[in-house]
Formats: sequence, structure tokens, C-alpha cells
Amino acid sequence: MARILITSALPYINGIKHLGNLVGSQLPADLFARYMRGRGNEVLFLCATDEHGTPAELAAAKAGKPVAEYCAELHEVQADIARRFGLSFDHFGRSSSPQNHRLTQHFAGVLAENGLIREVSEKQVYSRADGRFLPDRYIEGTCPNCGYDKARGDQCENCTKQLDPTDLIDPRSAISGSTDLEVRETKHLYLRQSALRDDLDKWIDTKTDWPILTTSIARKWLHDGDGLQDRGITRDLDWGIPVRKGDQDWPGMEGKVFYVWFDAPIEYIACAAEWAEATGNDWERWWRTDKGAGDVRYVQFMGKDNVPFHTLSFPTTLLGSGEPWKMVDHLKSFNYLNYDGGQFSTSQGRGVFMDQALDILPADYWRWWLLSHAPESSDSEFTWENFQQSVNKDLADVLGNFVSRITKFCRSKFGETVPDGGAYGAQEETLLSELTRRIRAYEGHMDAMEVRKSAQELRAIWVAGNEYLQSAAPWSTIKEDPDRAAMQVRLGLNLIRLYAVLSAPFIPAASAAMLGAMNTQDTGWPDDVADALSTLPAGHAFTVPDVLFAKITDEQREDWENRFSGVRS
Ligand code: MF3
Ligand code: ZN
Repeated sequence: MARILITSALPYINGIKHLGNLVGSQLPADLFARYMRGRGNEVLFLCATDEHGTPAELAAAKAGKPVAEYCAELHEVQADIARRFGLSFDHFGRSSSPQNHRLTQHFAGVLAENGLIREVSEKQVYSRADGRFLPDRYIEGTCPNCGYDKARGDQCENCTKQLDPTDLIDPRSAISGSTDLEVRETKHLYLRQSALRDDLDKWIDTKTDWPILTTSIARKWLHDGDGLQDRGITRDLDWGIPVRKGDQDWPGMEGKVFYVWFDAPIEYIACAAEWAEATGNDWERWWRTDKGAGDVRYVQFMGKDNVPFHTLSFPTTLLGSGEPWKMVDHLKSFNYLNYDGGQFSTSQGRGVFMDQALDILPADYWRWWLLSHAPESSDSEFTWENFQQSVNKDLADVLGNFVSRITKFCRSKFGETVPDGGAYGAQEETLLSELTRRIRAYEGHMDAMEVRKSAQELRAIWVAGNEYLQSAAPWSTIKEDPDRAAMQVRLGLNLIRLYAVLSAPFIPAASAAMLGAMNTQDTGWPDDVADALSTLPAGHAFTVPDVLFAKITDEQREDWENRFSGVRS
């Protein structure tokens, strides 16, 4: 049994996430967590809301609420939606937690002791119209690297380059749009990422099995042009973690807070501490290699825009501390999911958001489509037509139909218990060997976090059962050889349980419904397929489940297409 620590990129607090956000971090992380638990491993799966910085302040101002109150509310909203999407976090924390305050201040203290923080008298953009400094997202302009004209002061969304507000060409205030800006001097702390460049470089070089997407982004910022720049880690904002050196004041830094990208990844650790406090567990055994985390495997999930922060900045914090913190072992990153010919956009309300998705259909429909179309090797696109097709074919025609046919046939001919009699013949042996081969392939893809390939293999496993049923045709066999038909049906009912176990990471609610109908809690993984298919013995009672997946009609599709064509009100 292995111990696996899994984190998903922390969703910003500023509103409900869209399906593009979901498929790039939380959902594949959940897939992996459920799979690893299913294989009998000890898993700690953590996520939290990312609550500081300009996104939170801007959203609270828009909602007309004090920022702390806004964050508390939105945390509950996001936690509830995550639950309804079946995201099986062991803890869903908050980056504004006392644990994160303490740890963030601790890291700043040890980094300063180790000479990795310098104080800089810095030029910051001040808006005369707004009467305030404009850090990060409070300022927009043209990216000096790629020319994208809506780059934000902290990062260009288009080319992923980390930016400082003063880097932007033709800057304007994101609050008022004003270009009446001036540059003023103020003192800030910089993290000396460049001092650890060689260590980071060597560390990335050891990660030969990471997705190219991950390592290429890391190498780009390590080596390109100006290379790894030192980053400002403090801001002139009210909301955030006060700048302190451990538990000491930091002279000259009064009234300033840490930059959100400094404290947010530290919440991965603080979240474990929150979980430990809530459950009476020990978090250091997951995070400190001197306290038992040496044998933990740590996997992170995120969209590509998050990669620089997780391969450069956060590792600088951990390595630079000189303390034995657990470092990430595998970093799975994703491209973007687009929406119907354009981008999903939170600011423009374009696309389908998690709450709206659940208003239309249960989570499993979305989980299946999103995961089977995960933007792994390139960006991918959501269209209503493609969604309708996948749901109707894969979920309704293949899986749902199989479950319904076999249970209904059994009920009508043998009653609602697993029938007795008969023995496997050549056809069954062929099926068993195909299933064995495919299940081993499925495990291989799931272990490697190849999400699309895993979905394809799972679908092929469902298809194999359907094709068997079609050619075995117990409805014909029963006339000449009732024992043989009984064996076929018994095999079919056991396949339902097997499918429930294999499919649970993708479609957990349907999986639970299948297990419920089969009247079993045996979720044992099919290490041996023949054994797995004799779990439900003759005489075992079951029930015919309700329709697992309803088909999406053309009418519904058109209705939803229209409903979501405009912007979210
Ligand atoms: N909130 C960030 C985003 O949505 C992700 C933060 S991941 C963190 O892009 F762990 F580093 F916090
Ligand atoms: Zn750019």
C-alpha cells in the first residue's frame, strides 16, 4: 500500500468556477484520488479556496461586501458545489486560515535568515484617478513578451509569462480604466529565485516522466532571455497575510501583506494542518520528510498557466527554507478547454459554470464528458453537439443499456436473484482474456494519469460486455439451453459490479447506483478478472435499477445551446 498526497490547484475565491477551470485541476485530481483509493492506497486529497490578492478584493467590491465576509460566503458556495460534483477532497481549506498565516510568515522568516529575501525600494504604479497603488490585476495593458493586449499586471494569460505591473505597455487601471498613472517608490520584499536557479534546473532535469507541457514551461522560464527573475512577494493591500518574519515584526513592512502567489501554494501544507486539526490526524507525516513523509508520493494537478508558480516559485520557497519539506513528485498540467468557438471566461461570464451545469444534468454526465475530452496534448473544445453525442453513445447506449438489458432479462426469466447453473465456454474465456488485457491497460493509463486514454479504455471495457451480451444472446440460448443462459446472465450481473468498481473514479454516482442495485458493497479491485466475476454467487438478490443515464434530446440540446450562448447574467 502506497501513501499518495494529491493537491489540485486552489480555485480563486472570486465566484463559481466554469467547466474549463474544473477539467484543468480539481476534476482530474479527483479522478486520480478515487482511483488510488480504489486500489487500496492511503490517499490524502487536498484543495482549498485561494482567497487573497486582487481577484478577491475586486470581486468583493463588485458584490458590495467586506472582503472577509465575501470570502467566507464564497468558500461555502464553492464547497457545496464541489461536493455536488463528487469532488472527494479529504479537506477543502481556506488560504486565509490561521494555519496558513503562521506557515507563510514562518517561510518568509527562514527565507530571510537564509539570505533569500532582499528588500527593494521599488517603483509601483499609482493611479491618481483611483487614489491608490495598482498591484497585479488592478492594472492591465499589453504584454511585453507576446503583445497580447489584455495582459494583467501579474501574468500574461496568453503566453504565461509572469509579469510585474511596470512591465506592461500602455497600462491602464482595471478599476477605472484611467491611464492617468504615475510610478511611485515604495519598499517591498523580493524572493531571490535566481539564487536557486541551478538547484531548480537540476531538480527539473530529474523529472524525466513529467508531461512535456510541464517541463517545457519550466525550462522556458529558467533559460529564456532574462531567465529566472526575482519576484516581489509583498503588496500594498489590506486583505492578505501581514508581512512578518516568523512571529516577529518586519521593520519597514508595516501595513503590507504577502503577495497571493507567495501564500497560496503554502496553503497546500496549511490545508493538511487544517485537516489534521479537524480530524485529529498528523499532517507532518504527509509533508515533512524527517517526520514520515519520505515514502509519500506527491502529485499536483493544474492548468498550464499555473506551472511557473509550481515549478519555480513554490519550489524556491521549499528548497530555500533549508527544511525537509516534501517536494512534488509528479506535476500533471493541462491545456485549456474552449467553449463553442471561443474561450471560457470568468470575467465575461462566457461558457457553462459549475452551478449551471448541475442545474441541467447530474454531475456524472459532465464528469464523463470533461474527463474523456480532457485537454491533455492540446487545447480541446466543448460543443453541445459533441456533449450530446458522447453522453448518448457512451453512457446511455453502451453502459446504461447493458445494465438495463441484463437486469431486466434476468428479472423476467429467472427472477431478481443471480441464477444458478452452467459453466463458461470458449466465448466466456475469450471475453475474460480481453477484459484482463484491457483492465491492465486501464490501470497503466490511470497510473500514468493519462486521462483520455483511461476513458477510452474504460469505454472499450464497457463495449466488450455489450458485444458479449449481443453475441451470447441469452434470450435465444434460453430456449435450447437454459443452464447456459443462466451462466451468461450470472456473468452479466457480475460484469455490472465489475463496471461499477472500474468506473467509480469517472462516474461515482452511477457506480454507487450499480452497486446498490447489485446489492453489494464489495468494491474489491479486479486483480484477477475470473475471481472478480464470481463475486455475486447464485442465489444473490439484486434489483433492477432506474435508468442510469437518460439520453439528451435534440430539443434539450438546442435549448441549452441558446440559453448559454449569451453571457451569464
Ligand atoms: N488560484 C490560482 C488559479 O486559479 C491557482 C492557485 S494554485 C496554488 O490560477 F496552490 F498555488 F495556490
Ligand atoms: Zn504574453
